[in-house]
Amino acid sequence: MTSTNDIRRSFLDYFGANGHTIVPSAPLVPHNDPTLMFVNAGMVPFKNVFTGLETRPYKTATSSQKSVRAGGKHNDLDNVGYTARHHTFFEMLGNFSFGDYFKEQAITHAWTLLTKEWGLPAEKLTATVYHTDDEAFDLWKKIAGLPDHKIIRIPTKDNFWAMGDSGPCGPCSEIFYDHGDHIWGGPPGSPEEDGDRFVEIWNLVFMQYEQEANEIVSELPRPSIDTGMGLERIAAVMQGVHNNYDTDTFKALIAESGAITRTATDGDLQASHRVIADHLRSTSFLIADGVLPANEGRGYVLRRIMRRAMRHAHIIGAKDPLMYRLVGSLVSEMGGAYPELVRAQPLIEETLLREETRFRRTLENGLRLLDEATAGLGEGGTLPGETAFKLYDTYGFPYDLTEDALRTQGLGVDRAGFDAAMAEQKAAARAAWKGSGEKASDDIWYDIAETLGSTEFVGYASTKGEGEVQAIVKDGARVDSAGVGDTVTIITNQTPFYGESGGQMGDAGLIASLGGLSAKVEDTAKPLGRLHAHRAMIEAGSVKVGDTVQLSVDVERRDRIRANHSATHLLHAALRRELGAHVTQKGSLVAADRLRFDFSHPDALTHAQIARIEADVNAQIRHNEEVTTRLMTPDDAIAAGAMALFGEKYGDEVRVLSMGRGDDNHYSVELCGGTHVRATGDIALLKIVSESAVSSGVRRIEALTGEAARLWLVDREDKLRQSAATLKTAPEDVPARIAALVEQSRKLERELAEAKKALALGGGASGAAPAGPEQVGNVSFMAQVIDGLDPKELRGIVDGNKKTLGSGVSAIVAVVDGRATIAVGVTDDLTGTISAVDLVRIGVEALGGKGGGGRPDMAQGGGPDGDKAAAAIDAVKARLAGSPG
Ligand code: ALA
Repeated sequence: MTSTNDIRRSFLDYFGANGHTIVPSAPLVPHNDPTLMFVNAGMVPFKNVFTGLETRPYKTATSSQKSVRAGGKHNDLDNVGYTARHHTFFEMLGNFSFGDYFKEQAITHAWTLLTKEWGLPAEKLTATVYHTDDEAFDLWKKIAGLPDHKIIRIPTKDNFWAMGDSGPCGPCSEIFYDHGDHIWGGPPGSPEEDGDRFVEIWNLVFMQYEQEANEIVSELPRPSIDTGMGLERIAAVMQGVHNNYDTDTFKALIAESGAITRTATDGDLQASHRVIADHLRSTSFLIADGVLPANEGRGYVLRRIMRRAMRHAHIIGAKDPLMYRLVGSLVSEMGGAYPELVRAQPLIEETLLREETRFRRTLENGLRLLDEATAGLGEGGTLPGETAFKLYDTYGFPYDLTEDALRTQGLGVDRAGFDAAMAEQKAAARAAWKGSGEKASDDIWYDIAETLGSTEFVGYASTKGEGEVQAIVKDGARVDSAGVGDTVTIITNQTPFYGESGGQMGDAGLIASLGGLSAKVEDTAKPLGRLHAHRAMIEAGSVKVGDTVQLSVDVERRDRIRANHSATHLLHAALRRELGAHVTQKGSLVAADRLRFDFSHPDALTHAQIARIEADVNAQIRHNEEVTTRLMTPDDAIAAGAMALFGEKYGDEVRVLSMGRGDDNHYSVELCGGTHVRATGDIALLKIVSESAVSSGVRRIEALTGEAARLWLVDREDKLRQSAATLKTAPEDVPARIAALVEQSRKLERELAEAKKALALGGGASGAAPAGPEQVGNVSFMAQVIDGLDPKELRGIVDGNKKTLGSGVSAIVAVVDGRATIAVGVTDDLTGTISAVDLVRIGVEALGGKGGGGRPDMAQGGGPDGDKAAAAIDAVKARLAGSPG
């Protein structure tokens, strides 16, 4: 038997050997098409190559593309498990020519691979062509030698393939395999064509046109080829089975669910086992590609698939969560071809287990309600919409799960009633909505979010993507369009732009369209926490609601923000390790050029503490370990050691970021919705540049990372070099040189003071006495004005004069920078009659000052009028002359 893995390999090898570049599957979330929920065909990742918008270094390619058809335009969810060939997840094998070969070569390749390489009998094959495509008809005859009746002309859309209402399209030719007359059915185009005997295995699309709104609007730059072959179908053919679920991959998964639950996989439970196997594949691949369960958008499609599988696990009697236990089997079957599955295995298991644990709590009660509600309904009855809504609202039953549950009993659901109940609930919520009361614009955001839904953020995985413009807000009002020069807020259905939240700044970048729009996004806000509001200035072209636009985040800026955000987490963890568990986040700012982190701690950090914290974070950066994200309930996350912000409101589910190497866990585990580096090494370097107080008990650290940190260090080094040059020494000798200079300067100051004093006491180095004493009344008096004398020296001089006098009074005035200080000394024998304090006060008054103080034998004071120094001495002298003495 040829395994599915071998078939995939040999398909790619065949086209690889024939000059095609083997291109790995693109992720399931399309980044080049806002109208598409998931990639649903092999050509989707090449859409823009066909239309000429994008060029690749190759002209022919081959791939095995992961595809999901659940939600959106192609929705096979309802049929899975009940038919032989419906899947929510499948792989599409394809070969592509972008203006290289066309019909003849495409048909030749297909025929050669099927009949020569793989040895399928030619008589089992039938081809169809579009009814007007004579060229393809003739080629099938020429290349395959098929008789006329086995080349069937089909006049319908079945043989004109289009990606969607818009995009590349063209006539196609399908190849059918005849599973044999033991199965009912007829060839395509016959009245029995709906039977299962003839199965389409390969579709060759002759891409020639581009359409918009279902109208062909132009020819593609060059005729091209897109082909698609469902791997599961061809595996069934080559493994000699009729049902895809009987091929090796599915058999292994189904056997595992049978073994774990100890149930038979055929009979009554067959459909449930098949649903579980199919849904396991789609959920696992979606999670591996970054989709996580949510209540809206892609995440809700994932949740619907998961819950549908969980109901079937319940049907087969699984007592404990089952899905997560099957992931290992899936990884052994498909991990070789899709390494992302191996990498994501823990995340997939954890996400499934959590969702199962959570849903089981309400599943049984919901099913009981369902049983009661349907008890009275006869065959063909309809469940009231209100009940379906209650199941949805209270028990977490997605609408299609309820439908699926009733299907086997032949019952339907009143969809209109369900929709009406949903609308009523929304209207009630609208009536209760008050807004924050701060901004009038809240109402606009609320209406947009309620009528158009939340913006889906696709920016964790990508920085580029397409979106459909859903609303434009200009000067506080909704408008239909905007043009050059307008500054507007643009809301799209999905975006890679992060909206400012959790301390992380919003993204900047560009919004453009094929119609010529070029709008510079300066900032992205996140009103109501649900909408990503791009504030943009239209530099060229115009934009209107309904336009498809290309959104490109300024990647360089985003990378710096990422590095700063992850560094903040490491810093937080390092602070707690160094200072203690009382450290909690009090605020943070994650910008492109810096980060700021406020935390509770009573004291200023010492230099040694800061140095250790910085060293610790940088060691984690160098470990360069991958940063992992998981989705959990807040309680589980906190139990797993995540640091949560006290008083912060978290939703049902939180992203848990783990990074770095700790003793027995990660270095840092935090709840966070921000964008982060892939591995800590991307931060490159952390430099703490300041530590300060914000308020009592709250400290702030500011830091830089990566290139900003490097530039900061370069700037410091520059300054050091300049200092070294000025000091005429090497940078490493600067500290010693400065210490020597400071010492020298102190010495010089001391010497200068000495010199001034010596000068004051008589000039010159001899230290001779100043102008000699004179007799004032009957008291000996010595006085002098000294410019530039440090007032600290006054006392010493006055004391010296007192000694010289033996009995008498001395007054000295020092004048520095226009200010004067006067000191007066009185020898002890005279203090009974003359007070130094009185005399100083008189001097101070003359100097334009007030007061002055000391003791009767020595007093000092000062005033602003330095030029009155001589007058001050005269005033003291005059007083002395009149004193009793
Ligand atoms: N794109 C074509 C299909 O999906 C091959 O059938």
